[in-house]
Amino acid sequence: MKKVITFIAGALLLAACTPKAQVEPYELISAEAFDTTLNGQAVTLFTMVNKNGMAAQVTNYGARLVSLWVPARDGSFKDVVWGYESIADYLDPGTDVYSGPVVGRYGNRINKGRFTLDGKEYQLTINDGENHLHGGSGGFWSKVWQGRSVINADSSESVVLTYQSPDGEEGYPGNLSITVTYTLTNENQLVIGYEATTDAPTVINPTSHSYFNLHGTTAQSTNSHVLQINAGSFTPTDAGLIPTGEIASVEGTPLDFRQPTPIGERIEADFEPMKLAKGYDHNWVLDKTGSAFSEAAVVYEPATGIVMTVTTDQPGMQFYSGNFMDGKDTGKRGDKHNFRTGVAFETQNFPDAPNHPNFPNPVLRPGETYMQTCIYAFGTK
Ligand code: GAL
Repeated sequence: MKKVITFIAGALLLAACTPKAQVEPYELISAEAFDTTLNGQAVTLFTMVNKNGMAAQVTNYGARLVSLWVPARDGSFKDVVWGYESIADYLDPGTDVYSGPVVGRYGNRINKGRFTLDGKEYQLTINDGENHLHGGSGGFWSKVWQGRSVINADSSESVVLTYQSPDGEEGYPGNLSITVTYTLTNENQLVIGYEATTDAPTVINPTSHSYFNLHGTTAQSTNSHVLQINAGSFTPTDAGLIPTGEIASVEGTPLDFRQPTPIGERIEADFEPMKLAKGYDHNWVLDKTGSAFSEAAVVYEPATGIVMTVTTDQPGMQFYSGNFMDGKDTGKRGDKHNFRTGVAFETQNFPDAPNHPNFPNPVLRPGETYMQTCIYAFGTK
């Protein structure tokens, strides 16, 4: 099904600007591979390309990032996110449903799927042991969103996706209307903007769940990535990865990434929170005040020279080091999804915040607008 689309225009442009750079054309996934109807709704694959030749492909199935081609140090392009080559692959029960989508309403875990809001208890669906994870088994990641392409005034491209989540879906109260906008800027940034409103009080914490590998292939582990996280504390959890409510310092622990450190250097450390998570799978409490926009993390792969900077207005970021990956499924270009070959950086409110009054408020009420912006920016060094 895959149609080869060679990115000639970008290659020519780059060749003209940097005659000595090695320009490797790349293959985009064809829109035909996503051309289907699910529950009466059309599935589409959108492609955005910027003036530097960087490309992002997004499908409205789960508001999902499918490909992200970014320039490497040697002038070639690498696809730095996990994904699959067709909608059929995404619907195959053997594939990782959290490969690239927007998860929600509430990203990450809610203890036993229960919370109380304005004195009323709500029971969400349970899909992770005894807990609720990433919005449940019918979360946003599994829905067909309405999508459209937009060309912005500065010539950058966006894909605007909207979804109406009905009252009671997965147990959440209120009819929620959510819009997610992916914009590929000419400064090599993928900007993900979220906006939501509700007709009854609810809780909300959508986030983007892409697995990145800055090698551009899962043939190589993400343990070699050098990571900096601008956070002095984290939220410890129990064995089910539910926060205890404590906010603990990272000082003197393997979770201290305030100085750039290879991910693999301390990943097997004898440190209880890492034993519980089988590696890194924690919420870092970002150094900031309120909803300030701040640089959460910088990720660098020495082999390709690719640098990714994560910027957010959210209070937390989940860094997940791929501890549950087992190589049983195969993504684009035959890439096996092996142990620790993808890393997620999910900008978010804290997991289980609806059950912890000391965590930032996750409640959205009628008349309010939920907003979030996350930027994944790319460069080389
Ligand atoms: C992460 C979560 C992990 C795991 C993963 C999906 O966001 O923190 O524990 O559930 O998603 O496999």
